[in-house]
Amino acid sequence: MSDRRSVVGKPLHHDSARQHVTGAAVYLDDMPEAAGCLHAALVKSPHAHARIVRIDASRALAEPGVVAFATAADVPGENEVGPIFHGEPALAVEVADYVGCPVGAVIATSHEAARRAADLVDIEWEPLPAILTIADAVAAESYVCAPQRLVFGDAASALARSPHRLSGGLDIGGQDHFYLETNIAMATPLDGGQWHVWSSTQHPTEVQKHVALVLGVPQAAVTAEVRRMGGGFGGKESQPTIIAAIAAICAHKTRRPVKLRLDRDDDMIVTGKRHDFRADWEVGFDDTGALIALKVRLATRAGNVADLSSAVMTRAICHVTNCYFVPNVEAVGLCCKTNTVSNTAFRGFGGPQGMLVGEAIIDQVARRLGRDRDEVRRANFYSPSRGLTTPYEQSVQDMIGAELTDKLEASADLAARRAEIASFNAGSRLRKRGLATAPVMFGISFNMPSLNQGGALVHVYTDGSIQANHGGTEMGQGLYTKVAQVVAETFGVAASVVTPTSTRTDKVPNTSATAASSGSDINGAAARNAALQIRARMADVAAQEWGVDAESVSFEDGTVTSGNHAMAFSELARLCWVRRVSLSATGFYATPGIHWNNATMKGNPFYYFAYGAAASEVEIDLLTGETRCLRTDIVHDCGYSLNPAIDLGQIEGGFVQGLGWLTMEELWWDGAGRLRTHAPSTYKIPGSRDTPPDFRVHILEDAPNRAETVFRSKAVGEPPLMLAMSVWLAIRDAIEAAGGDAEIDAPATPERILMAVETGRGAAPAPA
Ligand code: MTE
Ligand code: HPA
Ligand code: MOS
Repeated sequence: MSDRRSVVGKPLHHDSARQHVTGAAVYLDDMPEAAGCLHAALVKSPHAHARIVRIDASRALAEPGVVAFATAADVPGENEVGPIFHGEPALAVEVADYVGCPVGAVIATSHEAARRAADLVDIEWEPLPAILTIADAVAAESYVCAPQRLVFGDAASALARSPHRLSGGLDIGGQDHFYLETNIAMATPLDGGQWHVWSSTQHPTEVQKHVALVLGVPQAAVTAEVRRMGGGFGGKESQPTIIAAIAAICAHKTRRPVKLRLDRDDDMIVTGKRHDFRADWEVGFDDTGALIALKVRLATRAGNVADLSSAVMTRAICHVTNCYFVPNVEAVGLCCKTNTVSNTAFRGFGGPQGMLVGEAIIDQVARRLGRDRDEVRRANFYSPSRGLTTPYEQSVQDMIGAELTDKLEASADLAARRAEIASFNAGSRLRKRGLATAPVMFGISFNMPSLNQGGALVHVYTDGSIQANHGGTEMGQGLYTKVAQVVAETFGVAASVVTPTSTRTDKVPNTSATAASSGSDINGAAARNAALQIRARMADVAAQEWGVDAESVSFEDGTVTSGNHAMAFSELARLCWVRRVSLSATGFYATPGIHWNNATMKGNPFYYFAYGAAASEVEIDLLTGETRCLRTDIVHDCGYSLNPAIDLGQIEGGFVQGLGWLTMEELWWDGAGRLRTHAPSTYKIPGSRDTPPDFRVHILEDAPNRAETVFRSKAVGEPPLMLAMSVWLAIRDAIEAAGGDAEIDAPATPERILMAVETGRGAAPAPA
């Protein structure tokens, strides 16, 4: 790829930035509704586990505006939305298996009428025993998929001969996605048995596939479309298929367009979240803290069905050792089947949970030895002398976690600040401070090799304007802008010449979710591939026109040149049309060199790794348990950033979302399996005042990706979330400074911090 870059690498604003800030951006619920459009509202299970004895919708149907009531019996095709495994119905059949499980939908002429009537559907239930917690599920061996086991070296015998041994455990909470736009879909029956579905989805192809399945029509009869989401964060990778499928079932029953929009409470109750985890480990190490052996069991609450949990667990296992070489590892992963909502993808996809376990282990080893945590890390980093093979046997060629940690040590002045903090703590009775770093090494690629493919469809029009379509979706992360930059760069035109359009399954088929941070890697490369095909044809036409070699034709600044010949890009586009040369091409990309064996948990699941490091200083209030993150410094690796303005936003946003997960966002279910934190009144996400007042984010410079990604960029969507581990570790230090028990679980809420300080009860329970 050419080294010349005039559009790629520029800090252009997000293509919809103006619409976002002026409120002009059109989200699905803002779109004009088709004539006759109806609205659906879900009827949900109030029980964690219960048999449906009888449903009586007569009171609901008598309400003004109510048109129909749909249940599983109205599914014309197959009642199935499972993304990996089968057996996951859109609407409950006979049994509901979590509180909030959709049992049916009331369809009415307005959203309000549908919601009112939904409360009037009478259901007779026969409650069944429910499993709600990880501990209960493990005891009952209740799993949604087979346990996973990764073995590297011989952990048991290495543990036996380790000079030091330590065992511990950690509870890690889940997280609601809290995207601003809740789940929504609008399904419209079209002429000739065809269907159109607008969906707020990261995965239009999955929506198309499952709408076709529930309707019993070929995939070719269904087009799914999305222009933008008001945030996805993984919560719209698989969950929108449920919403779109129900909308389609309702539209099929009424033969009219149907829109299904969840309000905030329903969105939080009905759809899946980040997986909560329980980890138990035993670790062996030497006097320097170098790990010799690790035995770890990760158990997660998968919820009522498998959804993506098996892949989430695999990623968690692959990230337990973060950027450290551990010569002997035995990791077991259990995906617990519980009568709670099915947890799903969430930024990091299990990586954050796995990595937090690894960092808790490093932290506890350092505390046991009375050593500095960063020194213990340095004894463990992947290096040629220590080892460069991950437990899943991928070779690590580009590890810069150590380098980034050293950089941060200097740039954030950590040594001097540690001394300042020590003297602050000595003189402060009611407030204590802590300072901690966290390195991040995150594997980039879907951990199922088949998903690492993408497509694009690029059109050049005769006025020289360009449309860039691709399989990726826009959720605020700036993918459309980045792909437009790649296409503009390829044609040597300004980014404004390229119009991103909505993502549609009839333009680019058989796509993967925009997920695993690989949206720009995959779709950027596919769009580049399409643009290069068109550019080659255009160069041929110019070469013919001028009687020169096609190789000599270059595209720059909106002009096409060869020697003394020059013509505007638009002029050449028009000339191509006159010469009857196609100005449209599909592009394709498949990530090279990746493979994975699910049975042995070995392979090369990642094309490359993205790295970062953060240092955070926190202060805790010993009277209230409240935390403030006072300052955070970040150095993050984006390869050659496609757009440093957007990448900076991703780093800041990812970090703050991670800070929310680890310090304040707490999901709380009662003993009946009801989620009691289902609105902002009870569920606290970080606000602008929770961001560090001193926030210094640097993108690592001159750091081209060693892997041959599009313009040598690196994925940035998920990795920065894990940088917030620095805040959690700094809280542990502050608790220790207060004389409390530092081994706090996650999230480190004020309540848990107070308990840790006062009684040590914030600590993880003793391992089983
Ligand atoms: N940024 C914004 N603003 N909104 C989002 O929903 N999702 C994150 C991340 N950044 C998200 C976001 C997640 S979970 C992923 S996987 C990536 O964006 C997906 O987009 P990408 O692959 O194009 O980076
Ligand atoms: N990330 C996100 N989604 C996925 C992945 C992944 O690694 N694997 C399968 N679906
Ligand atoms: Mo992101 S969790 O891979 O959608």
